[in-house]
Amino acid sequence: MLNPKMVFPALFLLLFALATVSGSAAQEAASAPAATNPVKPTPQSQAKAKQIYNIDCAMCHGENGNGKTDMANDMQLKLPDWTDPNSLNGKTDQGLFNMIRNGKDKMPPEAVGRASDTEVWNLILYIRKMSQGAAAPAVPSK
Ligand code: HEC
Repeated sequence: MLNPKMVFPALFLLLFALATVSGSAAQEAASAPAATNPVKPTPQSQAKAKQIYNIDCAMCHGENGNGKTDMANDMQLKLPDWTDPNSLNGKTDQGLFNMIRNGKDKMPPEAVGRASDTEVWNLILYIRKMSQGAAAPAVPSK
């Protein structure tokens, strides 16, 4: 037989333990940033990224990402050359995401209305591909 005097404290302890566990799990979920890119590229999402890039970014960073543009010249910008694999090597996706969303100095922030979070993650994939031959000259047609 259960001793009624023991049931209540046991129940109390159990509830307390449950509350602690679920509380800390919720906290973790809320504070953990997406450390790595949460999206997987698809032909459609990358086509969209290219479209956004060419409208919002290429004027400064260049269509192929090398940063050698008239705009960069005129504004005296020091831009990274993304066709060089070393340029983005030490940078995390989260850092690039924050940079694109918030801007920095002469780099304008990309507003949510112009690119959703998912689209920004796809922009990062698009930029990272620039050093992998994605932006290399097309095979000459015969
Ligand atoms: C007005 C010119 C301009 C435009 C437009 C622009 N950028 Fe930039 N961007 C800059 C400058 C300048 C820097 C360097 C800022 C610094 O480090 O002080 C930069 C830096 C960056 C970096 C960090 C690179 C690194 O190696 O750390 C990323 C990523 C980036 N831009 C992405 C974008 C994307 C994506 C867009 C379009 C949505 C965009 N930029 C539009 C000027 C521009």
